Amino acid sequence: MSDLESLRSKALEEISKAETLQKLHEVKAKYLGRKGLVTEALKRIREIPPEERRNYGKKVNELKEALETALREKEEALKKKEVEKALASEWEDLTVPLENTVGSLHPITLTLRRIVDVFRGMGFTVEEGPEIELEEYNFDMLRIPPDHPARDMQDTFYVNKEGYLLRTHTSPVQIRTMLKRKPPIQMVAPGKVYRRDDDPTHSPMFHQVEGLVVNETANFRHMKYVIEEFLKEFFETDLPVRFRASFFPFTEPSAEVDIGCVICGMKGCRVCKGTGWLEVMGCGMVHPYVLEACGVDTDLYQGFAFGMGVERLAMLLFGIDNIKVFYENDVRFLRQFS
Ligand code: PHE
Repeated sequence: MSDLESLRSKALEEISKAETLQKLHEVKAKYLGRKGLVTEALKRIREIPPEERRNYGKKVNELKEALETALREKEEALKKKEVEKALASEWEDLTVPLENTVGSLHPITLTLRRIVDVFRGMGFTVEEGPEIELEEYNFDMLRIPPDHPARDMQDTFYVNKEGYLLRTHTSPVQIRTMLKRKPPIQMVAPGKVYRRDDDPTHSPMFHQVEGLVVNETANFRHMKYVIEEFLKEFFETDLPVRFRASFFPFTEPSAEVDIGCVICGMKGCRVCKGTGWLEVMGCGMVHPYVLEACGVDTDLYQGFAFGMGVERLAMLLFGIDNIKVFYENDVRFLRQFS
């Protein structure tokens, strides 16, 4: 019994003196390991006279538990100290001006400006909307019903306020613009959008540019012309463009726009999945329901809309095959765009 007492005080002292996690693990092995002193003491129970065994066993187990608790507490304290040390030594003052360092625009900013500039040249205005958006503008007024898969929690980031979310596309800016201004409208809306997606081709935050034209004569042919001209100017070549029938709740008819793969010259590659075509945007004639919901008289006006992914266009423009490089801020990557 007195051996147990001295074992206890020696072990506790060694635990409290351990300066590193490594040292602490050594102490743990010394006492509680397979051949540890406490483990051995427990095995010695066979040598104890039967009438004392019960009491002895109880004492050893108490000792074991006391040491385990002390070890756990010490381990937490040491880990905390390590984090504090790292925070103190790895601290950097990011506000110190560096000499001879000139910043440059991010490739996404460059692409966004390039897109917007083409549309400005065609007489479009530039509109902006909030990233924390009303569910009503992001979904309801765009004819996306409550049971639509796009509303699923998996796709949408909801915020801690009833009726609000992180916009999943730039289309709510169509709504905001129509509520604010009478036609004719001819606008683009660049900005950040959010979806619960994360893999090599999807990022939870990305950028879109929305386009909306509402006037007395807007039709599908106008839309085709505007999009084809845009793509020609953006890629600075007369590339093949095709419109594929598709579906969006807020446009009817709807289409998806493909361009001839700029990576392989339409021979078929990994990026175009062997098809020779790349999808670059969605578009369509604005559904009368949407126009009416925004107070636009559908006897007088009609409209078309389109929406494109900026990262996608940037990847094609610069020949990049992984969306993640845009957000890693590796200066070796970013410098190539200065
Ligand atoms: N908002 C659609 C999307 O995010 C794209 C789109 C915009 C489609 C405008 C048609 C018209 O996928």
